[in-house]
Amino acid sequence: MNRRERRTVVMPEERFRMLLAALLFIVPALGCAQPVRRKPESKPPYTAAGETTPKAYARAAAARGEELYRRAQCGVCHGDKAEGGRRNPNSVQDTIVAQDNMAERLFLTYREDFEAAIWMIGRTGTLEAEYLDVPRAPAVVEQYRNTVKIILDGSTTGKKDAARRRAPINMPYWRDELSMQEINEIIIWLLSLGVEEDGA
Ligand code: HEC
Repeated sequence: MNRRERRTVVMPEERFRMLLAALLFIVPALGCAQPVRRKPESKPPYTAAGETTPKAYARAAAARGEELYRRAQCGVCHGDKAEGGRRNPNSVQDTIVAQDNMAERLFLTYREDFEAAIWMIGRTGTLEAEYLDVPRAPAVVEQYRNTVKIILDGSTTGKKDAARRRAPINMPYWRDELSMQEINEIIIWLLSLGVEEDGA
């Protein structure tokens, strides 16, 4: 086989390989160019865990959240029903804060508002005021973010009387223990405790 012949045999195969390599590179790159940010109104609507309606998600997430609250033993400090009450001398209220009033603190006591908010949490993993159609949406979002942050990072209990010794019990951090999805589910259970009854 002379030099010339070899070239004609080898070249097409090489070209084919190059084309294949180019395709392997280009096709995923095109895939990445698609918008990744999923808007809250994306279709079909479903949550990270697969529920397809706000009511179904509210029930399922609250049940998972209650279970997580027990497993993490939040109740040792905040009470089994999140009613608070464990003594913490020289903390602002002298007892550990209740969590069963979270719906009030987040302005989500109306079932319609609660469902709108948790539906966004279920579908996007967080709350954004821009897309949240409830009264006082920016305040709701701020309170929600503060709540998430204190669970992730914990908090040193403030003193009622600055001259006295610090309160012995602080809020632990859960960053290494709980995922964001789990924290959201606990929050949804705590919110559900203070939401008006479902008329339907
Ligand atoms: C060792 C006791 C302890 C445990 C366990 C505990 N907490 Fe706390 N938590 C506290 C204390 C004390 C505070 C008040 C901290 C402060 O005054 O800044 C607090 C504050 C909070 C707050 C902020 C409340 C507010 O009104 O600002 C949230 C939300 C919360 N805890 C949720 C949880 C959740 C959810 C769990 C379980 C995953 C949990 N806590 C486990 C002691 C605890």
